[in-house]
Amino acid sequence: MKDTLEKIRLNTLESLKNAEDEAAIDAINLAVFGKNGSLTEILKGMGKLSKEERAAVGQLVNGVKKELEKELNERKAEIAAKMQELRFAKEAIDVTEPGKISMPEGHLHPMTQTYREIRDALVGMGFTTYEGPEVEYDDYNFTKLNLPLDHPARDMQDTFYVNDKVVLRTHTSPLEARALLNLKPPFRLIMPGRVFRVDEVDASHSPVFMQMEGFVVDKDLTLADLKGTLLTFIHAVFGEDVKMRFRPSYFPFTEPSAEVDVSCTLCGGKGCRLCKGTGWLEILGSGVTNPHELENCGLDPKEWKAFAFGLGVDRIASLKYGITDIRLEYENDARFLKQF
Ligand code: DAH
Repeated sequence: MKDTLEKIRLNTLESLKNAEDEAAIDAINLAVFGKNGSLTEILKGMGKLSKEERAAVGQLVNGVKKELEKELNERKAEIAAKMQELRFAKEAIDVTEPGKISMPEGHLHPMTQTYREIRDALVGMGFTTYEGPEVEYDDYNFTKLNLPLDHPARDMQDTFYVNDKVVLRTHTSPLEARALLNLKPPFRLIMPGRVFRVDEVDASHSPVFMQMEGFVVDKDLTLADLKGTLLTFIHAVFGEDVKMRFRPSYFPFTEPSAEVDVSCTLCGGKGCRLCKGTGWLEILGSGVTNPHELENCGLDPKEWKAFAFGLGVDRIASLKYGITDIRLEYENDARFLKQF
């Protein structure tokens, strides 16, 4: 009986070692401790033994029973832990794995891109942005800028009047007056914003469009400072190869005044359809600020000098990207905007 017991013990330990899953453990449990299990049979057979033998064998059997029960439980726990680990490994989510659906990515409007290129080049030269209202006093939009009520140049721009004294600003130039009245010079400003004119919508006109004014006030400034400033941002927007040309012009708020052209972005200056054969494209108005404007805003023109320039952001974007219809820049057709 002792030998049988030892055999059961060794067999069971061996099978426990080889068991791979919980079902195998349950089978061993049944084969050893079940109703007809090998150890149960031994316990049943103990009735035939003498009293002394029973005590000795009983102790042995109990020892083996305890040992095997302990081994079985340990192995069962071990297998359960391993199973859980496998399950966790299978269920793990790799959060760094790229997604299956690619999200559509937007980008900046070509006009915003162009504006930011101009702005960034100017910020690099010490400019900061300054903004003001779209509904503006006639006084700031015209009078303070050396355009009194009876000035013929008021007809250069067709104005939306809100009432006698208030207009929708026709340009960003009223911000010059606001800056002069509110800020302490010296300063260098970029003044962007929407402007409004009574115009029918067509390929080159829109009643609302975006302008940007540059305005510098300091003790001694010359036309050369204006030229250098313009050339720097023109190169940033159109590339280093583009040429700049100053052409004498007239604006009430500047004296002298100049319109600025760049060599044609399409033909490089040879002459084509875009530049109407001239080789040049007009991009902005500029000049040395008229002393009357400084005076109107409380600055002594003997002490302070200023220069200014104003441009249409949509026009610059059109020339840069070869857009031939201004409406495309304001209609937000995704098929058009996707190209930039
Ligand atoms: N305000 C002018 C316009 O809307 C543009 C302009 C011209 C602005 C000359 C200036 C300037 O500051 O000096 O047509």
